[in-house]
Amino acid sequence: MDGLELTSEDRVLVLGATGFIGKRLVKELAAENIKMRILARTPSRAEGLVPEGADAEIVKGDITKKESLKNALKGIHSAYYLVHSMGGKSLLKNTEFAEKDKKAANNFVSSADKTGLKRVIYLGGLGEKGEGLSEHLESRAEVGNILSSGKASATILRAAVIIGAGGASYEMLRYLVERLPVMTCPKWIKTRIQPIAVHDVVRYLTGCLKNSETAGQTFDIGGPDIMTYKSMMDQYAEARGLAKRIIIELPFITPLLSAYWVDLVTPIPSGIAHPLIEGMINEVICKDNRIDEFVPIQKTPFNEAVKIAFSEETVGPGVSGF
Ligand SMILES: NC(=O)c1ccc[n+]([C@@H]2O[C@H](COP(=O)([O-])OP(=O)(O)OC[C@H]3O[C@@H](n4cnc5c(N)ncnc54)[C@H](OP(=O)(O)O)[C@@H]3O)[C@@H](O)[C@H]2O)c1
Repeated sequence: MDGLELTSEDRVLVLGATGFIGKRLVKELAAENIKMRILARTPSRAEGLVPEGADAEIVKGDITKKESLKNALKGIHSAYYLVHSMGGKSLLKNTEFAEKDKKAANNFVSSADKTGLKRVIYLGGLGEKGEGLSEHLESRAEVGNILSSGKASATILRAAVIIGAGGASYEMLRYLVERLPVMTCPKWIKTRIQPIAVHDVVRYLTGCLKNSETAGQTFDIGGPDIMTYKSMMDQYAEARGLAKRIIIELPFITPLLSAYWVDLVTPIPSGIAHPLIEGMINEVICKDNRIDEFVPIQKTPFNEAVKIAFSEETVGPGVSGF
């Protein structure tokens, strides 16, 4: 199919390799003997991620700068796009990330169109337009649309909360449940979600690269369990062997108030926590399971994913530098 198939000679670019998903993906690609190029703002952070013997080039760059992308994309067959600009600590609402992410995606497309990139694989968020989508989820969808507008064939994967050590949403869940036997929560505690284990996400990401029929398609990915945020907290406590948490619903708590609360109780930077908490109002469950036809995997149950995540704290990738 028009050179979309990856051969053993082809090289794959990983954007966001130092992140929660990216660092696990690099290990998996290395295990599959796939040649890589990693673009990182701080190359020293990427060096330790590449397993011994892997064919991985590391280049310094920033995706908000066109020049960085043009150089990084030279000779690349397919690229993983695993970046976002949320972050930082401020008591004020983070309003800049969507603009930065839009600019970065546009830079990527214009550079990729010039270098002849064949495929881009992007991991964004679940959530439907027209349902009062949060700014964060709106921005994730916008990036997907921009990437799909280029000449490279885009595969868009959409996920809800990803369970694994170091993931921003997972760490919020972990700190809140571990630290607070009694919690007051906003009404969005009843919103339904479909969490997914991080190693399942990585299997979908690599599976899509290996199956060129996924090119040009959008897939929802999720674990086998659909639950509310409240039952997710209950099930986390159970999986960890903690006493049942008392969760009191206070409908008047706003997203901003919840975010300040998360600032106090957890080390997650407000620049990430605020947009994520705003998104808790949106139901994030898979609308279809077509991915099963293209990348069939045994999905990890939620309680198993929590146990694995907890063990990753000590023997795996561990928590990121919050
Ligand atoms: N975590 C979840 O629960 C979750 C759920 C659903 C979807 N997703 C999606 O998964 C993707 C990856 O998320 P993640 O959780 O792995 O994020 P993450 O841990 O915060 O990592 C973000 C990565 O982006 C890089 N980055 C940010 N700005 C950059 C720039 N200007 N130039 C170059 N690199 C830049 C960071 O590099 P530095 O090391 O330089 O900071 C880091 O490697 C995102 O698209 C996100 O929406 C995540």
